Amino acid sequence: VVRMSDDPKKMEFTRSVLFDFHGVQMTKYFTENWEKIQNFQARPDDILIATYPKAGTTWVSVILDLLYFGKTAPERHTSIPIYERVPFLEITFPSMDSGVDLAENLATTPRLIKTHLPIQFVPKSFWEQNCKIVYVARNAKDNMVSYFHMDRMTLTQPDPGDWNTYLHRFMEGKVLFGSWYDHVNNWWKKKQTYSKLHYMFYEDMIEDTGREIDKLCFFLGLSPSAEEKNQIMYGVQFDNMKKNDMTNYSTFHVMDFKISTFMRKGEVGDWKNHFTVAQNEEFEEDYKKRMTDHTLQFRTEV
Ligand code: A3P
Repeated sequence: VVRMSDDPKKMEFTRSVLFDFHGVQMTKYFTENWEKIQNFQARPDDILIATYPKAGTTWVSVILDLLYFGKTAPERHTSIPIYERVPFLEITFPSMDSGVDLAENLATTPRLIKTHLPIQFVPKSFWEQNCKIVYVARNAKDNMVSYFHMDRMTLTQPDPGDWNTYLHRFMEGKVLFGSWYDHVNNWWKKKQTYSKLHYMFYEDMIEDTGREIDKLCFFLGLSPSAEEKNQIMYGVQFDNMKKNDMTNYSTFHVMDFKISTFMRKGEVGDWKNHFTVAQNEEFEEDYKKRMTDHTLQFRTEV
């Protein structure tokens, strides 16, 4: 049992254990509320931010929050944690409002809602209401590195083990929310038929954040002024998000920042500091077999 003594709500957490949940590895903190999650009533103007964990969810969440509310309610950015501005639909932690409750109680329009669910688990009302969805994907190797450090420092996540163990677990989909390969591929497939899905890449955001914000605005039908866009660009620079306690998760007490940080590196290519040559060869050989849709291409350097 982990007791976060500095936690005002005195929450108690344990490292969770993965189990097979309809073919996907999940933990209790994301399945306990399953019926409520599945019955969530989306509204037509809700915007769903969908990602595999560690693909750049927070970055895009802050961008969307600033695009919609930065002008009318700029104080949000420095006074409300991002996980309250953009609730995490499937999370159910003890002594905390569930993601569904937070989402239902959002007073803003549109409601911005985050999910890591593989596509087959998305509540059906999002499809029925024809909601806009922003999906962010990140290359597997950097995604895995980021997830490894996240699992090390987040005391409610399954124990990641050492790096080599983790690498093999990731390749087998034995991590929370299951296979990265299935996640990115199935969401990509959906994009071909569902026009309200905007599929973005972390690497593109690193290469040219302004260009990616422009594409996002086009998709959302927004046209911020040059000044508003500059303010957003400034607010979402890695160093500024790292300094901002409302975006850096320092208020989220299940993370031990002595082990790692949430705003850790924010780069493309950190995988090179983790993979051995042999691990990279093994990974690449497996990757080729599993990523057969060549219209979906990731960059591992920018
Ligand atoms: P690293 O661990 O590689 O640094 P998510 O929000 O999906 O959990 O993703 C977290 C990852 O996105 C972390 O990656 C984090 O540093 C990175 N990230 C968050 N904000 C960023 C920003 N403004 N610019 C670049 N990377 C960012």
